[in-house]
This record gives sequence, C-alpha cells and structure tokens, in this order.
Amino acid sequence: MPFALDQIDTELAILDREQLRRSIRSVDTPCGTEIQIGGKALLAFCSNDYLGLANHPELIAALSEGATRFGTGSGASHLISGHHIIHDELEAKLASTQSGAIPNVRALFFSTGYLANISAITALSLIGKDKTSIYSAALNHASLIDGIRLARGQGSVNLHVFDHHHLAALEDILRDDSAPHKLIVTDGVFSMDGDLAPVQELLRLANQYDALLMIDDAHGFGVLGKHGYGLLEDQTICSDRIIYIGTLGKAAGLNGAFVCAHEKIIAWFIQKARPYIYSTASSPALAFALLRSISLIEGNLGQELRARLQRNIKLWKDGVTFTHWNRLESNTAIQPIVVGSNETALQLARALDQLGYWIPAIRPPTVPKGMARLRITLSAAHSDEQIQGLCKVLSDLEQNLPRS
Ligand SMILES: Cc1ncc(COP(=O)(O)O)c(C=O)c1O
Repeated sequence: MPFALDQIDTELAILDREQLRRSIRSVDTPCGTEIQIGGKALLAFCSNDYLGLANHPELIAALSEGATRFGTGSGASHLISGHHIIHDELEAKLASTQSGAIPNVRALFFSTGYLANISAITALSLIGKDKTSIYSAALNHASLIDGIRLARGQGSVNLHVFDHHHLAALEDILRDDSAPHKLIVTDGVFSMDGDLAPVQELLRLANQYDALLMIDDAHGFGVLGKHGYGLLEDQTICSDRIIYIGTLGKAAGLNGAFVCAHEKIIAWFIQKARPYIYSTASSPALAFALLRSISLIEGNLGQELRARLQRNIKLWKDGVTFTHWNRLESNTAIQPIVVGSNETALQLARALDQLGYWIPAIRPPTVPKGMARLRITLSAAHSDEQIQGLCKVLSDLEQNLPRS
C-alpha cells in the first residue's frame, strides 16, 4: 500500500479518537426547515438560508428562465469569454446596494465567498513595494485566514492578529506601524459567534492610521439594514477605505459572492486576483436568478422576511435560559450555545437527532479548543411552534444529559 494511504488510516483514527472526524450527511429534500435525511424527517436549525429563499418559487422560476435565455454554462473564465452581459447587470445591481456606503463603488462577482475572500486579500496585499501590514480579527472565517496564508506565501504580508473586540490592542500596534499600506480584515457578523464587528470603531482606526478596512458580511447581506444591503447600511457608515464582501449562498438563497469597493480597487483585482482570473465564471443563469433574488431582498417581501426573522430571534432568546451551557449573546440569526468539550457537543447533536432536530456539533478548528458548540441558525421560515419546541427540547436536554 502507498505510504500516504497507510498514513491516512492512522491520522483518521486519531481524528476519530479526538471526536474531531467530520462526515457528510446527504439531504433528500430541498433546503428548508423541514427536511429529510435517508427518509428520516428532521427539523433543521443549521442552514444559512436566513430568509427562507433557497427554495422560493420565484427563484426556481428565475433559475429556469435564466438557463433558457442565457444557457447553463459560462464556457470560460471572466477574462477569456465567460463574462456575459447578465454578469454586468448583476454587478451593477450589486454595486448599487453599497452605493450609499462606498463612494465610486464598483462590484465584482465571484463564484463563492471563499474565492472572493482569498482573491481580495491576495490582490490587496500586492499594492505597493513594501509588505502590507494585515490586521486580522482573531475569530475571522477560515476563508479570510486562508487568504492571509496565501498572501503570506507571496511574501507580501506582515500579519497581526487582534483579539475579539480588543480595539485598544489593535490601536497599539497600528500606532507603532510605519508600513505605508495597512489592511484591517474582519467578519461583519462573526460566523460562529453571531455578534457584529465594531465597524464604526474599526473605520475610525482605519481613518486615523491610513488603513483599508475589509469587511466580510457573509451573514449580514440580505439580513441587516432596511433594504437588506447588510452591515454598512445597518450602521450607516460610508468610506472609500472599505472593501465589502457579500455572499449570495446564504440569505440570497442561491450561490456566489461579490466584492464592492472603490472602482480603482476593483480595477486592480481584475488584474491581480488570481482565483478570479484563473477560474471559470459561474453560470449566467445563476446571475439572472441572483438579480431576482436581490430584488426580492430589497422589496416588500424582503422587509417582511427580515421582520419575521427578528421576531423569531426574539422568540428564541426569550424562550431559553441555561444553567450550565453558555448561550452567547447575539442579536443575529446565528445563536450559539457553547458546551465546552467535543464529546458533549457530539453527544448533544446525537440526542437532538434522535428527537428529530438537525443541529450539528461545531468543533475545533472551526472554533477555539474547549469552545465546542451547537450553532443554531434561525430563519424567517421557522414557525413559532418549531422554535418553541426547540427551546423546550434543549432545556430538557440540559437537565438530563450527563455532564462531561
Ligand atoms: C464569514 C464567512 N465568509 C465567507 C464564507 C464563504 O462563503 P461561500 O460559502 O460563499 O464560499 C462563509 C461561509 O460559510 C462565511 O461564513
């Protein structure tokens, strides 16, 4: 047997022993609150379909119409022949969502948020002859961390990681940094904690120390702000220092992502963002459906769904109190319960599964060691009864599960 195959057996056994092995579960039914896995009905509290649009009849119809009008595949990367006029239309629409927040804004559409993040960070770090100082929030998403790792591999970065919400520590390093090009990078809504980045204060620091501020609003776009335009609309901030990332596979119910920034920054990305340049453009049919999704998000339906989601968040928060587990304080759809050990988190996820709920255990390296949790996500599509049922089931489990 090749060495690698033998070694993989050994290392997978270690993951098993440490309760860290991940597995795939295939869903039989469309994304929704009531799903089936292997014929078994489950109530799902784990998708990022915050507005319940992932199986919306208007988006199903739009995807099908898009395929009829524009075909299924783009055929090539954006800079060869894969960029269709519907991509232009989508980018113009996406830019308009951030026009109140970023002067001279332009948008660039990507196949995924992961690609958008690694593209933006690697390209931004190539600006200027000196190394870029990157200031990264400690709980940033893996795609931001991987973008920084790649940028460090290019030899173009000095990295500083600042602790969650520790702005004084961040300012101390910024003050002593003589690098001409600085970049602060943060999740907008922290993906495993659900709290918001202090973007007003981060922007003040960016202004004071001449830095750019990159905000990954994967979990805010569609959900935050009157029109669902995300964290910048919600916080009414505006600056040409901001690089905004929105993703379209979560609240928007489809797939894809975008970067909005000053047009000069987007012009730079088109030259330097390798994952953008060397990857096939996503389907024009998808771009067509995404236009429909954004018009739903910004219109009356979106406003109703956001109000419904807020009501569901309140219902959940009012409905549970725990004695031993730590429900993290969050006003967003991401509502984590930290239970500590991997073993307890897995035990809890299994018990929930038996009771008909799907909430996977989130373990390191996705979250710090000793902070394993259930990451409950709420959607506008959940009913009152579903949320009240979950509150009751979890309260009972907390009392009855043996503690490790
Ligand atoms: C904060 C954050 N950024 C980026 C991504 C990646 O986005 P995508 O799923 O579109 O690749 C995710 C997705 O899970 C995320 O939570």
